[in-house]
Amino acid sequence: MSIDKRICCPTYKEKLMKFKRFKEDIDAFLARDPAARSRLEVALCYPGYHALLFYRLSNWLWRDNWRVLGRFVSSIGRLVTLIEIHPGAEIGRRFVIDHGSAIVIGETSIIGDDVTLYQGVTLGGVSPSVDSHEQVDQKRHPTLASKVIIGSGAQILGPIVVGEGARVGANAVVTKDVPAGVTAVGIPARVVMPRDKEEAKKFVAYGEPIDGCPDPVLRTIEGLRQQVTTLMVQVRDMENRLDDNVAGDSEGNKEKVVASRGKR
Ligand SMILES: CC(C)(COP(=O)(O)OP(=O)(O)OC[C@H]1O[C@@H](n2cnc3c(N)ncnc32)[C@H](O)[C@@H]1OP(=O)(O)O)[C@@H](O)C(=O)NCCC(=O)NCCS
Repeated sequence: MSIDKRICCPTYKEKLMKFKRFKEDIDAFLARDPAARSRLEVALCYPGYHALLFYRLSNWLWRDNWRVLGRFVSSIGRLVTLIEIHPGAEIGRRFVIDHGSAIVIGETSIIGDDVTLYQGVTLGGVSPSVDSHEQVDQKRHPTLASKVIIGSGAQILGPIVVGEGARVGANAVVTKDVPAGVTAVGIPARVVMPRDKEEAKKFVAYGEPIDGCPDPVLRTIEGLRQQVTTLMVQVRDMENRLDDNVAGDSEGNKEKVVASRGKR
């Protein structure tokens, strides 16, 4: 077989692609961790990267129906890195676990591209121990869309969706969907501010709802403000109509009405 044909054959291409993927995984750590200085440093010293390598192998075995072997490789990865990633989880490209340790990623988790997790994060089920037989093969872990960042210690529980580009604060407990592009903090997690802080300033200045900010508290306040404005317009309108009626009425009645309005 000529060299050209060997290069063109799919397995060769696949190998090249795999090599590129390893490289882009390392580059993702360089891009997102200010403490990372070289590819060699990431490859040797980052448990998050080692955990990803163990995951890629265990996931390949899992998908090839080597289920126990997949889990075995995964458990070795956990021993070495203290990061537990179930081989059945689906993880996209350029995934970064910074610092690592005490991370759990459950079986039915789905993670998009360019996602970052810090130490102590759980992507777990809500009550895995209750009726656990019925939960087998059910989607019970979260889905993180692309470019999501999950702060250290955050617990993301249940088959919820964290939207693209959303950020979850350190130690938050999230049990409901998080919309794309927002920041959610606290227990239970609530949206604190859209990522575009200029848009947030506009909200304060003009009292208009922020595009893409579904914070229920802000929306409720805005709804109340609009209702008060509408009521004020209606009251003013009624007063004007009353004045018109009074003008056409007798002088005595007019005085009565004006006097009664003065009392109010
Ligand atoms: C959530 C986070 C991304 C928000 O960053 P930000 O966009 O700069 O937001 P701000 O700092 O302006 O905070 C917005 C509001 O949320 C609050 N807040 C921020 N993080 C919070 C958290 N983890 N828990 C509770 N409230 C939080 C702030 O006090 C502020 O409230 P205020 O408006 O009433 O003052 C960031 O605070 C965070 O938790 N990052 C995790 C990073 C991490 O895990 N690092 C570990 C590295 S080892």
